[in-house]
Amino acid sequence: MQRHWWQEAVVYQVYPRSFQDSNGDGIGDLQGIIQHLDYIKNLGATVIWLNPIYASPNDDNGYDISDYRKIMTDFGTMEDFDQLLTLAHEKGLKIMMDLVVNHTSDEHHWFMESRKSKKNKYRDYYFWRDSKNGNPPNNWKSNFSGSAWQFDETTGQYYLHLFSKKQPDLNWDNSLVRQEVFDLMKFWLDKGVDGFRMDVINLISKKQGLPDDPNASKTAVEDAMSWVANGPKVHDYLQEMNQKVLSKYNVITVGETPSASTQDAIKYTGFDRHELEMVFQFEHMGLDWSQSGLGKWSTNKVSLIELKGVMSRWQTALNGKAWNSLYWNNHDQPRIVSRFGNDSSKYRVLSAKMLGLLLHFMQGTPYIYQGEEIGMTNVHFDNIADYKDLETLNAYHEIVEDKKQISAQQMMAYIHHSSRDNARTPMQWDATKNAGFTDGNPWIKVNPAYKQINVSEALNDPNSIYYFYKKMNELRSQYDVIVYGNYSLLDPKDNEAFAYERQLDQQHLFIVTNFTSHVIKRNYKVYNDQKSRLLLSNYDDDLKRDLRPYEAKVYYYEE
Ligand code: NOJ
Repeated sequence: MQRHWWQEAVVYQVYPRSFQDSNGDGIGDLQGIIQHLDYIKNLGATVIWLNPIYASPNDDNGYDISDYRKIMTDFGTMEDFDQLLTLAHEKGLKIMMDLVVNHTSDEHHWFMESRKSKKNKYRDYYFWRDSKNGNPPNNWKSNFSGSAWQFDETTGQYYLHLFSKKQPDLNWDNSLVRQEVFDLMKFWLDKGVDGFRMDVINLISKKQGLPDDPNASKTAVEDAMSWVANGPKVHDYLQEMNQKVLSKYNVITVGETPSASTQDAIKYTGFDRHELEMVFQFEHMGLDWSQSGLGKWSTNKVSLIELKGVMSRWQTALNGKAWNSLYWNNHDQPRIVSRFGNDSSKYRVLSAKMLGLLLHFMQGTPYIYQGEEIGMTNVHFDNIADYKDLETLNAYHEIVEDKKQISAQQMMAYIHHSSRDNARTPMQWDATKNAGFTDGNPWIKVNPAYKQINVSEALNDPNSIYYFYKKMNELRSQYDVIVYGNYSLLDPKDNEAFAYERQLDQQHLFIVTNFTSHVIKRNYKVYNDQKSRLLLSNYDDDLKRDLRPYEAKVYYYEE
């Protein structure tokens, strides 16, 4: 297998709005990130992924971009960005930008021009269609509730928006659009950024003729993405992007690809395909979704057997052909310790370490989302007005108020479990007011758990989750097998323990985790092997066959 720096990398994701406010306006900013570069460096991360920091009216917290070459005023200036990039590079940290080019903001000048008249030179940058018998042009749904089409008075046509109506979809079939995107990518790469995380990049090529989705009435919004994802020309466009831009720089790329199968991922990231380096797949994130049509809105618990099935399928299908990203958390997902682990005071630390270990010893590039390294938990606001995320608010409005499908109380339980705002409450730095995030009024309330769960506590406790993650990152740089080894699952039907092996030449790893809050007894071959030694564990000692609540261990041996 060819080796590349981005395979050995550890990515730390910063959601700038919620990371650190430096000027008291209640919103995180670039100077705030600068204050914590050493914190990220000391954790052992090597790349920082910044969620969008471009000019934006913030309908979707920066995923609606009005100028790709300007910095959002809330976050600072281009000078602040240049300073951040220089300082990060001086410390050996790379910067990966978010590239949001499936859609722009409706306040981007291309769209403002486009909507003016049918003859405008930017008209064809977007999808404009006539109504069909008084209805929208087709039955596609927006990811953020309602139809994916918005009627526009000026020209009497509808435009397509797979996300909010302030996020019109760009028409990638227009070569001028592609050229604009390639130019703006070069603008950032020439500044010295080290790569891109590409927002919903597998939605950029729409099916010819924009046909109705035959399953639209049956599916939840998220499932409806499968009809619009992985369109007919997506690989042509990514290969063109690679040839014209990416191949000229030595960068990291990761495409966000809802509804991508392992076969799709091999096409996007195959070592010989010249498209992307890796994708964010969603299968493991959909395992606790509702079976009754409400998609992500549920309080279901994940089934360990299903989780093993999905993770292992991705591990083995891509091995030797393409490359995995490894993630539990990001700005769209609830906190993993509350979701797959146990966030009670008794088990939070143990289960957070267990989940971290389970993921980081798989094959792929690991992503750590801000706060994951201190075991931040989901937030439970009682009042819907305390939520800021438009997906959450639109869903509440549609499911509870419009369609009256479930009670407000039930929906709040789902929101507590699944809302994106679980990830977006401010970073918890210390136990002072607003968790040390801001001197002002935070744009979203701080999770009250900050008094116990914060960076300052973690740094003072040698047994903290933070130091456990740091240790994992150190081991990654010492053992090639962690990065490059192949993967095999043990006991797929065991619904309490998740165990797997990794192997690279003579190097072997054996990983076992107890997914329950009770002691389980398991006997593994490795226990009888004189040569094996414990590399990492979330307990102080090793009882071998007795696996204590959420116990997680890695053994190493050579053979
Ligand atoms: C995926 C991003 O991660 C999410 O936060 C955003 O709302 C949508 N894409 C639309 O850009």
